[in-house]
Amino acid sequence: MDLCARSIFMPWLLLLLMVQLLLSCSGAITPKIHVGITQKIQVTIQNYLEGHQDLTVHCKSKNDDLGAKLVKYMDTYEFNFSLNLFGGTLFFCSFQWPGVCHRFDIYDQERDQGNCKQCIYKIHENEPSRYAPNNNTYIRFPWKPDGC
Ligand SMILES: *[C@@H]1O[C@H](CO)[C@@H](O)[C@H](O)[C@H]1NC(C)=O
Ligand SMILES: *[C@@H]1O[C@H](CO)[C@@H](O)[C@H](O)[C@H]1NC(C)=O
Repeated sequence: MDLCARSIFMPWLLLLLMVQLLLSCSGAITPKIHVGITQKIQVTIQNYLEGHQDLTVHCKSKNDDLGAKLVKYMDTYEFNFSLNLFGGTLFFCSFQWPGVCHRFDIYDQERDQGNCKQCIYKIHENEPSRYAPNNNTYIRFPWKPDGC
């Protein structure tokens, strides 16, 4: 490494070490999180409404509004995102069909990190359920209690 490259490299290394030290002191890094790797998550939502209605799904996070999507019976809607290194990633959605509106947190990092990278949900009238690849079953989740 020549002198010039080194003079750029060293301050960067120092800065990185300082940031890492700062984060570990503040307790922001948990053993789950690997510095420098942002984990990609894929959410798939499938319309399994028993009455074969069209489903309108509208998902948001603190920073993103994914817009309202019309999902026909047996169709799927999919989106990808990267997990926040520091935790707290949350995607919350409304699920609407004629006369009904429910809400559900489709991805909650605290609840879901380590449980699914490909989070595949079937939307039934009574509940969303998520595919569990380890035993080839679906885990049922409750709708939020208070509608939309
Ligand atoms: C999401 O990521 C998967 C795997 O990387 C890719 O196959 C898929 O096309 C992506 N979907 C969207 C909507 O970007
Ligand atoms: C399948 O595995 C999930 C965890 O991945 C667990 O919550 C669920 O109870 C299991 N279901 C059955 C029927 O064993």
